[in-house]
Amino acid sequence: MNKIKVSTPGKLMLFGDHSVVYNRPCIVASVDQRFEVVVEKIKGKEMVVQAPGVGIYDYRKDLNKLGETRITKELRFVEVVVREFYSKRTFGGIKIKTKNHFSSEHGFGSSAAVTVGLSKALFELKGIKISNKKLFDFCYKVVLDVQGVGSGFDVAAALYGGVLYFVTGGRKIEKIKVPNFLTSESSEPSYIVVGYTGIKADTPTLVRQVAELKRHDPEKIEKCFDEITKIVKKAKISLEKKDWKRAGELMNENQVKLEELGVSSVELDNLIKAAREAGAYGAKLSGAGGGDCMLAVVNKKTKDKVEKAIEDAGGEVMRVKLGAEGAKIE
Ligand code: PMV
Repeated sequence: MNKIKVSTPGKLMLFGDHSVVYNRPCIVASVDQRFEVVVEKIKGKEMVVQAPGVGIYDYRKDLNKLGETRITKELRFVEVVVREFYSKRTFGGIKIKTKNHFSSEHGFGSSAAVTVGLSKALFELKGIKISNKKLFDFCYKVVLDVQGVGSGFDVAAALYGGVLYFVTGGRKIEKIKVPNFLTSESSEPSYIVVGYTGIKADTPTLVRQVAELKRHDPEKIEKCFDEITKIVKKAKISLEKKDWKRAGELMNENQVKLEELGVSSVELDNLIKAAREAGAYGAKLSGAGGGDCMLAVVNKKTKDKVEKAIEDAGGEVMRVKLGAEGAKIE
């Protein structure tokens, strides 16, 4: 095999944002906004990257110089995957082409998606059989190398897909069975509506902000994380039972805790308030906060009203399907 194409889904955090960085569980769902990577063996000892989504059209690097020269900001994850892979294996020249089906602005996790897609492609091309857990560990190390912080929940979503009960660093990765999960095309009477604030959040900054808060008052923040953990466990049960009303209420409870952590924003608050007033069962921010997306659980009757309310409040409704398939060879 000389060429391979792998696609990976994006993600949305449903419950447990931030506390999952501190050895607690979260619930993450993959989304059908996919990321594609094509890797091809080429002659010579060069890595060629074409990533038009981040404005890179023909980037070249000598594979013998990986790790020696400066890493291009837009290609941090690509370069560290390649560096890690080549550090333990011999392999020839490669050409990498990436394609986003979603903008990296929306917070659907393009960094994790590229890391997983490229890593899977390289192992396949080299003919190495690797379990999902080993691949997770490889990718999580890359993410930590690049951004220093993170639970790895986004790596798990890109790799496994579906809806996952996930504990920090992949200590637990358990699929939650949510048939016909809350997508606007499912036959279920309820859905999750996703609203984008229009603001790109900087996840590492917000994670460090929470770390700082915890340093000042460890007891209070640990207690807050413990309360979030209780909410996550209840949410798992409510999703398994398809009790969407309860899931919505638990989103509201989770949002209160995220506000205590100081990671919500005026824009998120406005969209969340608008969704609740329009009849959503509940709503919360998704991910690090400070911008990106919010979620609301709605039913058939309230869906249109909630979507309109989100738009009227300045948000953009993202029509995504949750629970998409994990990394796959195309
Ligand atoms: O901002 P996002 O969508 O990448 O989500 C970050 C979620 C955190 O829990 C804040 C960090 C993490 O790595 O789990």
